[in-house]
Order: sequence, then C-alpha cells, then structure tokens
Amino acid sequence: MSNHLSGSEIRQRFLDFFAARNHKILPSASLVPEDPTVLLTIAGMLPFKPIFLGQKTPEFPRATTSQKCIRTNDIENVGRTARHHTFFEMLGNFSFGDYFKEQAIAWAWELSTEVFNLPPERLVVSVFKEDEEAFAIWRDKIGIPAHRIQKMGEADNFWVSGPTGPCGPCSEIYYDFHPELGDKTIDLEDDSRFIEFYNLVFMQYNRDADGNLTPLANKNIDTGMGLERMAQILQKVANNYETDLIFPIVAEAARLAAIDYQKADEKTKVSLKVIGDHVRSVVHMIADGISASNTDRGYVLRRLIRRVVRHGRLIGIEGQFITKVAEIAIALSESVYGNVRERETVIKAELEREEARFLETLERGEKLLESILEKEKSQISGVDAFTLYDTYGFPLELTQEIAEEQGLSVDTAGFEQEMKKQQQRSKAAHETIDLTVQGSLDKLAEHIHPTEFLGYTDLQATATVTAVLVAGKTVESAAAGTEVQVVLDKTPFYAESGGQIGDKGYLTGDNLLIRVEDVQKESGIFIHFGRIERGIVTTGDTINAQIDRSCRRRAQANHTATHLLQSALKKLVDGGISQAGSLVSFERLRFDFNCPRSLTSSELQQVEEQINNWIAEAHE
Ligand code: ALA
Repeated sequence: MSNHLSGSEIRQRFLDFFAARNHKILPSASLVPEDPTVLLTIAGMLPFKPIFLGQKTPEFPRATTSQKCIRTNDIENVGRTARHHTFFEMLGNFSFGDYFKEQAIAWAWELSTEVFNLPPERLVVSVFKEDEEAFAIWRDKIGIPAHRIQKMGEADNFWVSGPTGPCGPCSEIYYDFHPELGDKTIDLEDDSRFIEFYNLVFMQYNRDADGNLTPLANKNIDTGMGLERMAQILQKVANNYETDLIFPIVAEAARLAAIDYQKADEKTKVSLKVIGDHVRSVVHMIADGISASNTDRGYVLRRLIRRVVRHGRLIGIEGQFITKVAEIAIALSESVYGNVRERETVIKAELEREEARFLETLERGEKLLESILEKEKSQISGVDAFTLYDTYGFPLELTQEIAEEQGLSVDTAGFEQEMKKQQQRSKAAHETIDLTVQGSLDKLAEHIHPTEFLGYTDLQATATVTAVLVAGKTVESAAAGTEVQVVLDKTPFYAESGGQIGDKGYLTGDNLLIRVEDVQKESGIFIHFGRIERGIVTTGDTINAQIDRSCRRRAQANHTATHLLQSALKKLVDGGISQAGSLVSFERLRFDFNCPRSLTSSELQQVEEQINNWIAEAHE
C-alpha cells in the first residue's frame, strides 16, 4: 500500500494537490477566532465563516489551508482512544460558491487513492441519509459499491459550526484497518476498525437560533482532513500519538519519567499521551496570545497546563518539567507555525509560572486530600470539595479528576450548596457593617419629611432648612464656629451609600456659609455634616445648597472604577469572585472581595490593563 509519509509531507501534498487545482494556499488563522460566538478556532472553515454567510466577498473563489484547531469537548477521551485530541491540524479545501458536491467528491477520492495511495477496497464512505445526490455520485461516478456507502443521520452527517451559522449535509471517508473482517458487519462507530479521516461539508444553509435553515446565497464546499489521523494511517502506527507529529513529545515525557514507553502499562501510556497532546495545545495557545486566567479561553489554557502537570506527577516526574516538553512541541512545529519560536520566551515563562503556582496548590492541598481519600469509600462530600476549593484553591474539576482516578465521585450538589452558604455569609457581614454606620444617627423620621434628592440632575438647589442639630441634638439655630448637622427639604448632595461617600460642598444664605464635609442619610432624611464658617443658621431658613463638582466627579469615577475592578477580577481571575464590601472616596477606592488565594503580580497587571482599556473605550 501507501508509502510512509511524514506529517510534514502529508500536509504539503494536500496543499500542493489543491494548489494545482487553482486553490490559493492561505496560512493558518490564529487559534483566537474573530468570530465572537466561539472561544477557540475549532475547524478550518471558521476564518471563512463571513464569506459563507455572504458578509464578506472572498478574494479567491477557492482556498486551501492547514488550520490549527483546538477542541476540548472530548477532553476525557484524550489519550484513552487512538484519535482524540485537544490540538490538531485540519487540512481543508474550500469553495466559495465555486465548485460543489460532485467536484469535491471526485478530488477527495483522487487525493486519497492516488496521492496518499490508500487502497480503494479499504475505504468506506458515509452520506447524510437524505442526500441521495451524494449517494449517487459515490456509487455511479466514483464506483463505490452501494453497501460501502453508509447512510447516516443528522447527528453524524449534518455539519454545523456551532449552535447557529453556516451548515449543510456532509459526507465522510473512513479508512478500514481490518478489511479481513468483511463487508457484512460495517459499523463505522467501531473505532478499533474504522477511522474517519476526511469530511466533506456541502455548506448551503444558515441555521438560526430556532433551528430554522435558510439557503445561503451560494453553495459552498468546506472540508476537513485530520492531519494526525492521516499520519496514523500512512505511518502504520497504533494511534495518533505515535505519529511523528506527536511522539517526540511523548518520548521526552517518558525520558523525564525514566519510563520505557513501549513497556509501560496502559495507565502510564494514557498520561504520556495526554502530555503529548496537551503540550501542543498550550504552546500554540500562548503563541497566539492567550494567557492563563480563570475565565474563557484563559481558563481552557490553565486547565490544560494543570492537566499536563498532574499527569507528569502521576508518572513520577519530579519538579518542574513543562518547558522541556514544550521545547519539543515548539521544535516540531516551528517550520510551519513560526510564531511558536518567535514567542518562545513568553511561552516558556507563562508555562513555568503556571506550573509553579499549580505545584504549590497541589502541595498545599495534598495532605487534606490524602486524608479525605483515605476516609471516603465512594464519594467526596460537598463540604470537603468546598474546603479544597475555598481554602486550598483546588478547582472543582481538579478534585473530580483526582477522585475519578481513585474510583470516587464528588457530591457536586453539596459543593454548590456550600458555595451558596458562603455567599450568604459574606452578604450578611456586609449588611451589618452598613447598619452600624447609619445606626449612630438620630432618629428624625418621626417628625420630618424625607428629603427630596435632586443630585442626579442638579448640582445646586434652593432649599429650606427643616432641622438643625448640634452633636446629634435638635436646636433652633447655630452660629459661626459650630460643628453642625443640617437637614434640608431637598438637596443636590449625595448621601453616603453603596460604598460611595457623601458629597462635599457649601450651604450659603444671607451672610451664611457652611462648609459641608459629609452627608449621611437615614430613613430618607439627608443630614449635611459641616462647620459654620460665617453667620447663623436657623430652622426654616431658605438657603442655597451647592456641591463641590470636582469632588463629585472624582467620587463618581472611583465608584465606576469599583464596578470595573469587580468585572475585571471576574473576567481574568475567577468568575466566582463576589463583593464583600467597598469604599469610594474622592481620593481612592477600596474593593473587598472573596477569593480563595492571593493574586499574582501578573494578574494584578492584567487587571489593571483591562480596566484602563475599558476606561479608554469611554463607554456611555
Ligand atoms: N468543518 C468540517 C469539520 O470540521 C469539515 O469536520
């Protein structure tokens, strides 16, 4: 059968084949997609989505790419099956309203059988069960026996790029590792026998959020060949991880653990393969500008790094090792994806930092975890999982993974309950603080009407004095030199609340000047705290109330900044962060929050940059 081809040769032959058929070879797009509906680039078609949807005019009617992709929906299968990955390369040929079904099928067949020299009798194809046209092309134009064309349902043979978006029926080509088993029992789900290596999507609809299909303006072709899968087939190895695209990483991990891969038991091999797979992901993710965090793609990165570290520990690697395996991944792909070497320093520094932090976390929690695992027979309780999370920084997923290795489960409902309880505790604490401040003021509500607050629109107002207090006691009037509290029927002054301090400003009248230093409110009554600089203030006086604009602006800005800070912390550090109190003054702000660990200086810097960016965006 076929010649042995290296991964690089396979990639090149694919691209050359389509270049010779007028396809423009385009470079791989970033793993960070422009499309906001997906976190990471999951298929070769993603960069072309706007073209398929008719939102962008293509520069070329045909294109071909080798696209780096990451999918994490099957992360549990990585290393356990022969062919699951987080990182993989998808080879694709694309037609933007140019050639369609018949031509795509004919070229796919020619490429598979004449360039990659796969024996036709080892190939089986699938079509969408309603796609009679594709069925007929395979049978009549290509000459595949009807029983080797399997009709499949929507789940397998109708391809959509996400919950919504361009889509269409597809047709897949499978390679048969065991043709000796005969044609009677063709079961394409049996992955010990068959591997799907090439998917041809006849992209002709747009699916909306309700599942409705609307025909696209053009009929397009989107295909995907798994480079690692083709390498497995052509290199005649047992799985994707043993191809030249990945095995050098696996071998380095084995060397670091002083293990002979060939002689290793199954569990050890799984760990080695997980390392081989995940290291490629993390190297390319960081190369494409992603940094570890607790949300979105930053969290995907963090989780993958942690899994590498943990699997390294499981097979006995001691100390930090991730940059060593990362170096192999960089060397393997630098000739095609140059940015991995260009960003080598950043990649290694990020990996080293994350690894060190995670090792610390593991060490902190290890004793507790050991004692939990000793006492529990079937399940880790919600309380224990929460303690590991809250006090030791173990994400729930990590506890679940470790538990699973020991044949235990985790009471996740119990965990959620503990989380809720803690949120309530911190909320209660917050309320108590506020009440203490307000409780020190006199109860005036019984004989005075609530103050009308004008401060959202007015910075000054004419008002009537409804009460004058000195040292918390009501008086008829007070004179210059006295510390006084003045209540008005209406006021532009903001009273301290929600963590923002009260306005400063002046109350003025005939020969009267009161400098207001603070404003508090109780039961809707605003109390202006100040000092009479000049004159006398008497209940019933008409006065002018005027706030200090620049102080108000600064307090507003600081108040807004607490919200930005909270959002940035949630986005970059931990989605579970909640407020535990805050202070907003003219000069500064303070924001108290719940987080199980302290922030690193790089996180602090990221948070600061994020907030400054939001400020620069000057949102309404
Ligand atoms: N977009 C198709 C896939 O990812 C080719 O399988």
